[in-house]
Amino acid sequence: MIGADMLARSFRTAVCDIDFEWPTVNLLDACRQYGLEIDDVAYLAANENPYGPSPKALAAATESLSLARVYPSPSLRYDELRNEYAEVRDALAAYCGVPADMVMPGPGSETVLRYVTQVFVDPGDEIVTAPESYSGHPWACQIMAADVRYVPLRDYRFDIDAFLATVSDRTKMVWLCSPNNPTGTIITDVELRRLVANVPASTVIVCDQAYQELVDDPSWGDATQLLLEGHRNVVVLRTMSKAFGLAGLRMGHAIADPEVCSLIDRIREPYYISGPSCAATLAALDDLDWCREVVRKLQAGRRWVTQQLTELGCTVVPSQCNFVLADTGVAAGVMYDRLLRRGVVVRPGDIWGYDTHLRISIGTDEENRRLVAAMAAALAE
Ligand SMILES: Cc1ncc(COP(=O)(O)O)c(C=O)c1O
Repeated sequence: MIGADMLARSFRTAVCDIDFEWPTVNLLDACRQYGLEIDDVAYLAANENPYGPSPKALAAATESLSLARVYPSPSLRYDELRNEYAEVRDALAAYCGVPADMVMPGPGSETVLRYVTQVFVDPGDEIVTAPESYSGHPWACQIMAADVRYVPLRDYRFDIDAFLATVSDRTKMVWLCSPNNPTGTIITDVELRRLVANVPASTVIVCDQAYQELVDDPSWGDATQLLLEGHRNVVVLRTMSKAFGLAGLRMGHAIADPEVCSLIDRIREPYYISGPSCAATLAALDDLDWCREVVRKLQAGRRWVTQQLTELGCTVVPSQCNFVLADTGVAAGVMYDRLLRRGVVVRPGDIWGYDTHLRISIGTDEENRRLVAAMAAALAE
């Protein structure tokens, strides 16, 4: 095609260099191939919440559709006509126990983390993260042409000593994920405090706490606490996608120093969160009993799946999330196919270098039973 090379010359190198692939599975093909009904597939690959959101959140989102014709209010301050963003910010702040000017909502934490990088990262800036963690973090930095350094986990956990040995005055940003996706492991309060105390105050420490609600280990460290204690370089990421079951409606937020929040406010799009997302979030935060009950069920499911897979001979990494990472001893791709044939979809661990592991989301009790039965059969093949 004429001009194709000329066009390619204009692409940004940083964008072309991104080693990008969304992990997907063609379920329709798989169903056809293995004679499965699509409704009968247990999809345990994306760490979604099988119980879904509070019915009150769904009702509020549905009701807000009557306003689909109009834009939401673009302002994070209260104005005269409509105040969705300001109300959501206030409600998230009350839920998290922080002042409203330390909260920046967005259409999913994935988008919010991109805003955070746009505020801080210049081309060539050094970023430190772990390779066995959420890939959205390095991708966001690579889009900004950052120089990403990887510090591997040790025994499935963030290696704080190795992070400290890598971070220097040149490091613009450190990415943490606690509990971590895909391992489900936490950074303890002691470890987090040691890290924060020993990096330069100019280094931004972003702690992704997407799975925070699922934690029941009292030694877990909450980065929000460090921010509130005056560490202005700490940024926390949270989401409504996991414990609140609102992944499809897209709502996440940063908790950060007010100055950081107002810079994000400057670069975000004006009508960036939809009215139904705001309505659902407000109603979900007003129905915390639903969320607590769902979390209780997911934690019970996590314990059960861990125990069952262990009895089948897998090594299961103790998880604080709504998923577990299990070492089956068999190549990840092989086990993935064996489970898929039985109508169970999981995520193979080789994308993080865990060549014999699977990351398995916790489902309903029925889905969990299905997984265990499929795993027993797959391991026996
Ligand atoms: C650690 C982590 N951060 C962020 C996200 C993205 O969440 P959101 O739906 O809020 O964009 C995910 C999604 O799985 C995740 O695992």
